[in-house]
Amino acid sequence: MNSTERRGDFALQVSGMSKQFSRRRRPPVLALENVNLNVGHGEFISLLGPSGCGKSTVFNMAAGLITPTQGRILVNGEDVTGQAGHVGYMLQKDLLLPWRTILKNVTLGAQLLGRDVKAAEEEARGLFRRFGLEGFEDAWPSNLSGGMRQRAAVMRTLLSGREILLLDEPFGALDAMTRGAMQAWLLDIWQEFGRTVVFVTHDIDEAVYLSDRIAVMGSRPGTVQLEVDVDLPRPRVPDDVSTAEHRAAIKRQILSVIHNDEAPVDPLATDERPPAGVATGAANGRS
Ligand SMILES: Nc1ncnc2c1ncn2[C@@H]1O[C@H](COP(=O)(O)OP(=O)(O)OP(=O)(O)O)[C@@H](O)[C@H]1O
Ligand SMILES: [Mg+2]
Repeated sequence: MNSTERRGDFALQVSGMSKQFSRRRRPPVLALENVNLNVGHGEFISLLGPSGCGKSTVFNMAAGLITPTQGRILVNGEDVTGQAGHVGYMLQKDLLLPWRTILKNVTLGAQLLGRDVKAAEEEARGLFRRFGLEGFEDAWPSNLSGGMRQRAAVMRTLLSGREILLLDEPFGALDAMTRGAMQAWLLDIWQEFGRTVVFVTHDIDEAVYLSDRIAVMGSRPGTVQLEVDVDLPRPRVPDDVSTAEHRAAIKRQILSVIHNDEAPVDPLATDERPPAGVATGAANGRS
């Protein structure tokens, strides 16, 4: 099957998924319980939640790297539970291989899949300008800035040729200015290439700026507690004054769920303060 072919009502479905990890000489951990998520073709969805709620575990199962204890993963309506190779996946700690040039790094997937490497390199060369990496085809990863490395990693995910791209906190380690530029760039790329994106973040403003819909996860055990449609017009402008109230309302809705999930341990904690692990956006200057 051509992986960019669109079949079924949804690109990706996570259905009744639970995951229990067993541990040596310690009780097992129920990391996820009954996670449900339907992602439409071409949608941009964010998975938002505090550290440890199981976002990366959802991705590892959607990518077929680990098998759920219960539940199913469907891609284009086909059950692919436990099978790798149906989605493009940019891991949270996505390291470019230091001994391969950028061109060789972004075509790694093609090589692993046994595709024509020369053809893949030609295709990749045509994208370097679009990814702000022109002239760095033969550079080593160590010669790139943090933002450039992340763009190379996104390019590698796009060149997987899959319709669905799972991006796990791709901009988490970047400074606020670079991060804002990368968010705008990612929206352009998403619109230009028409892929389906599932994006993990713990930054509420980032999720609101980027997404069509946000699935808010809670922890202990991890599950989707709320889905919010982000019905803001596109193209989006960061800090757009005309949508400020609407964005604030969406944030309040999300925060109310997060506050309910995390009862404050500190008796002095107020309702205004989000729990540790979820950023409210002061860091990237959006509100
Ligand atoms: N292989 C494993 N064995 C045991 N426990 C695991 C394993 N992988 C993940 N966990 C546990 O599952 C829970 C969810 O982890 P996960 O990495 O998915 O969280 P996350 O939401 O991605 O967090 P972060 O925002 O910090 O990346 C955590 O409690 C973690 O310790
Ligand atoms: Mg994670």
